[in-house]
Amino acid sequence: MDIPRYERLWLGIGIGTLLLFLLITGYMGFSMGLHPTDGMERTVEPEKVTRTPPFDNPGLERIGPNEYVLTSVSFVFGYDPKEVTVPAGAKVHFRVTSRDVIHGFYIPGTTVNMMVEPGHITKQTYTFDKPGKYLVLCHEYCGSGHHLMQGTIYVKG
Ligand code: CUA
Repeated sequence: MDIPRYERLWLGIGIGTLLLFLLITGYMGFSMGLHPTDGMERTVEPEKVTRTPPFDNPGLERIGPNEYVLTSVSFVFGYDPKEVTVPAGAKVHFRVTSRDVIHGFYIPGTTVNMMVEPGHITKQTYTFDKPGKYLVLCHEYCGSGHHLMQGTIYVKG
């Protein structure tokens, strides 16, 4: 009987499995890091949205020289905040949830196009190089006022 050898085998398998696991999770983390824009993130209870940070205080937060996080809450039938202004070239990280039903968060003329689901935080990043007035439109039918649901982002040149 060669017990040490037997143990080494199992030790090897154990370490191999661990390394494989680390590789897989590392790779997933890496590939998800490359696409932070399509992510639905951690959950937030819809009925507690207005009391759950950061959504208890929606708005624009500056996090760099020309970089911002826009925390936005969708509801029937609008967005909170309704309007924000950023300088041209601003990189904006959108962080959006809904406090009631499914909404859309679509900015024509940009690549910003999100579905906003209650219970989820949807994220996307966009750099507003061109000054102008950008509408935020709901493109998921959400009820009688759906067509009235919009917000505005002003990009100052
Ligand atoms: Cu909100 Cu359509």
